[in-house]
Amino acid sequence: MAFLSDTLARVKPSPTIAMTNKAAELKAAGRDVIGLSAGEPDFDTPTNIKDAAIAAIHAGKTKYTAVDGIPELKAAICAKFKRENGLDYSPAQVSVSSGGKQVLFNALLATLNPGDEVIIPTPYWVSYPDMVKIGGGTPVFVPGDPGRGYKISAEALEAAITPQTKWFLFNSPSNPSGAGYARDELKALTDVLLRHPHVWVMTDDMYEHLAFDGFTFCTPAEVEPRLYDRTLTVNGVSKAYAMTGWRIGYAAGPEPLIAAMRKVQSQSTSNPCSVSQWAAVEALNGPQDYLATSRVAFQRRRDLVVGMLNDCPGLTCPTPEGAFYVYPSIAGLIGKRTPSGVEITDDEVFATQLLEATGVAVVFGAAFGLSPNFRISYATSDAALKDACTRIKAFCEGLS
Ligand SMILES: Cc1ncc(COP(=O)(O)O)c(C=O)c1O
Repeated sequence: MAFLSDTLARVKPSPTIAMTNKAAELKAAGRDVIGLSAGEPDFDTPTNIKDAAIAAIHAGKTKYTAVDGIPELKAAICAKFKRENGLDYSPAQVSVSSGGKQVLFNALLATLNPGDEVIIPTPYWVSYPDMVKIGGGTPVFVPGDPGRGYKISAEALEAAITPQTKWFLFNSPSNPSGAGYARDELKALTDVLLRHPHVWVMTDDMYEHLAFDGFTFCTPAEVEPRLYDRTLTVNGVSKAYAMTGWRIGYAAGPEPLIAAMRKVQSQSTSNPCSVSQWAAVEALNGPQDYLATSRVAFQRRRDLVVGMLNDCPGLTCPTPEGAFYVYPSIAGLIGKRTPSGVEITDDEVFATQLLEATGVAVVFGAAFGLSPNFRISYATSDAALKDACTRIKAFCEGLS
């Protein structure tokens, strides 16, 4: 439509949301659907957090707040960064937005000029490239190595850096691969970045608390303090505390960048929901036992899903360090045909045929920039996961 902007013409709608909607449509039509496409914990928000929100409502904390967060939440965020990441930030270095998504969006919109490049490892969270494009920048992709659980090498990062590189957008544990960078692996990347002082680091630490088998989460500014002055450390309560609907994300970084992000927010959404901010204060300052409970449940489900998928002919599924996703390869199925004669030419065909034949909704790998794969979100009950993996196995066995 000629009326729409050229910028928007370059942007595609979120494929994960599209897949979730498609599964919901089939379900509404009476099909037996198992949705493994949505990226949110199936647990309820802990009661102490809900109670804090209710108390905030009754206390009349229902008005506009400071654009990028109430002082109490900024203080809680500073304490969190100190306690969990060993990072010192002052409240003036902190920005709060309506979800981690808005934090990333603000930062990109506030900094990108036409021609600026943003390095994004693949597979990536679906929104990164499109956010970069909305900001007027150019995404530059660095492929993850399937042999290393889809992590990128230092050499590949170095090769992607040009004089136009503005940001390195890093995400560990990763959506969609679940790959988590150990300290030495991250250090290899920060060593590269030290040699390129014009490149800033945007690290998306949303899945920090979903780390398994004793994996120790680490973040760039902590691993390499010399990058502190050019790092934006992004995090949020959505995944950690089962608070996806509350819409609170936050970041800390250099004050001028935080001020620029505040300017973007002040001319768009203004403050994030006041009640949600008080809930987030409780999430960060209150009891933290929910984190361990959810970690145990997700690790059990990861083991279940990885085990069952590796038992499917043609699938190969690495064991990820964190998040609640797995990213199996379907390389062994390309060229095969379904009983009705449809050839599996790529991962989109695979996901569509799987949904049609079995009612299992997954997201195809091309949506995340690395094929031929698909993503399963295992943030659902053990029973549903067993049922889904059994159906996937039958589907793979039926290909010839
Ligand atoms: C890697 C990653 N970053 C950011 C977000 C956005 O989080 P929020 O719901 O807080 O906006 C998500 C949500 O799926 C994500 O997977």
